[in-house]
Amino acid sequence: MGVLENKARARTFYKYLSKVYDRINPFIWDESMRDEAIDMLDIEPDDHVLDVGCGTGFATEGLLERTDHIYGLDQSAHQLEKAYAKFGKRGPVRFHRGDAERLPFADDTFDVVWSSGSIEYWPNPVVALRELRRVTKPGGQVLVVGPDYPNNSVFQKLADAIMLFYDEEEADRMFTEAGYQDFEHVIQQSRPGSPRAITTVAQVPDR
Ligand SMILES: C[S@@+](CC[C@H](N)C(=O)[O-])C[C@H]1O[C@@H](n2cnc3c(N)ncnc32)[C@H](O)[C@@H]1O
Repeated sequence: MGVLENKARARTFYKYLSKVYDRINPFIWDESMRDEAIDMLDIEPDDHVLDVGCGTGFATEGLLERTDHIYGLDQSAHQLEKAYAKFGKRGPVRFHRGDAERLPFADDTFDVVWSSGSIEYWPNPVVALRELRRVTKPGGQVLVVGPDYPNNSVFQKLADAIMLFYDEEEADRMFTEAGYQDFEHVIQQSRPGSPRAITTVAQVPDR
């Protein structure tokens, strides 16, 4: 398990990274990739959408263009402070501080649950993926963006030491174990040579 697949360490990491997150983020995960991922979803203007690990609100901002009913959740108070500065603490987005593995929402609450760039920090990704499924209505969609596993063995060792990087086979295992039956993965990259993301869109089955 990578050093940052630990909730307390990830919180400390984001205490510092939050200061520069919005300047660094576009080198890895930019607007074109975000918008391409949002286009993989069917979001109607009345839909309720949850952004898990919303951070400073980068994806939240894109999702807000599709519906006004957006909820954001993150475990880092420092990242959320940056999001409040953009949207207001009680503005159009309903923010919660909380843990992806224990979502503070009832079963079947959301039409769509989104999570970009957060799964790599979750110590128990299958537990959290089950939570995403639980709070999504049957027939709703869950979209998760994570870092694609590198091909090169040196980068693989480095990646494994830091956080969760995974390939399609591992994504199949995690989503299946979390109770999803219908899903597909898309590899995203903003330009040749830049880091690749693995984006999974899953349909939530009936209970
Ligand atoms: C790389 S940022 C992604 C932010 C945003 N989703 C985006 O697309 O730019 C990862 C975020 O996941 C949050 N995070 C990590 N582990 C979490 C957990 N267990 N529960 C909730 N949030 C978590 C971090 O605090 C951080 O803000």
